[in-house]
Amino acid sequence: MGPDVEAHRWVLSPMAYNLASMTVQVRSFAKINLGLRIGAVRGDGFHELLTVYQTLALHDVIRVSVGRGSGIEIRCEDPRVPKDESNTCYRMVEKAVRALKAKGRVVVEIEKRLPVQGGMGGASSNAVAALLGLERGLKKILPVAERLRIAAEVGSDLPLFLIGGTVLGVGRGEQVYPLEDLPAMACVVVTPEVGVSTPKAFAEWDRKPVVLSAREVVAVPAQDFSSHPNKLTAADSSDRMVELGRGLAAWLSESYSGAPSIRRKQRGRAENPLLALVRTGIQNDFEQVVFPEYPELSEGKKAVERAGAKYASLSGSGSTLYGLFASKEAARAAAEKLRKQGWAAQSTVSLPRREYWRRVFAG
Ligand code: C5P
Repeated sequence: MGPDVEAHRWVLSPMAYNLASMTVQVRSFAKINLGLRIGAVRGDGFHELLTVYQTLALHDVIRVSVGRGSGIEIRCEDPRVPKDESNTCYRMVEKAVRALKAKGRVVVEIEKRLPVQGGMGGASSNAVAALLGLERGLKKILPVAERLRIAAEVGSDLPLFLIGGTVLGVGRGEQVYPLEDLPAMACVVVTPEVGVSTPKAFAEWDRKPVVLSAREVVAVPAQDFSSHPNKLTAADSSDRMVELGRGLAAWLSESYSGAPSIRRKQRGRAENPLLALVRTGIQNDFEQVVFPEYPELSEGKKAVERAGAKYASLSGSGSTLYGLFASKEAARAAAEKLRKQGWAAQSTVSLPRREYWRRVFAG
């Protein structure tokens, strides 16, 4: 019996947890970035980041089985997904098995439903789902801090999937803090057939000439322009991050202030917290380097805006684009319109934290 036939035998049961075959099924959700600011390059070569992640209802399905023997096997019908040690699920399982002091042969089957294009954190989410499945399969759980540490070792945007909902990401994006959840929002995701390399996009950002706003020019002494161009870049980056940080702090303190009038207003109109967030100046810095390189992505964003999005952006370094809409109907109609124009578009909703965790293990 070939490995694929065997894999199908395992997945016959729709149950989330099947004792007989020890297969655990986990949903692996996508994310978008509601704003992303790139800061200075750090000593370790990574860039300081400030971003707000938001989980979406679109998902892959991960099935984890633990049997006799040893080793890790990755199965996936999509030829674009690596099956070797470079797969994020492989790396995560390897670390988790060691940390859990567990024994056995671990098979991870990845059912790709999300587009493989970047920006939605598919591979990162798959790895976290593999960890959750493994823990269930072994009936052992790692301490939360250990989970976060291992996830961050595998990649910068894995830890967010251990929190779900609306998440603040700092450091290189791996330090995550649960934010007060934005209400579920209707959105459209567009996945152009373009592969954007994240390291290349960061490198391009570093090469980008510094364009300072009038306010920033006033703030920087003139002699610094000629003598310390790199220092200037860093100052510019930090300024921009501080600016978004202030905006987010204002947004949060407003929503946490408990002032009854504010809270009533927010509950009454679901899009208000989002509009308040948009007013903080959220934007994705990657657009500045990715759009000139791939003009079709800039066109895609304009098409999403024309289709009626309240807010549209590139997600991560792309190529995924998304738009947030006032209602599910508006999102569905926009996705249909975009598809007619030739864009690969689908409508979905954002997943607040509770809903995220309710659905992760739902069969
Ligand atoms: O951590 P992750 O695997 O997602 O990072 C992929 C690459 O993107 C890194 O090797 C690095 O080149 C770049 N990166 C960065 N700064 C970050 C995150 C990623 O320069 N904050």
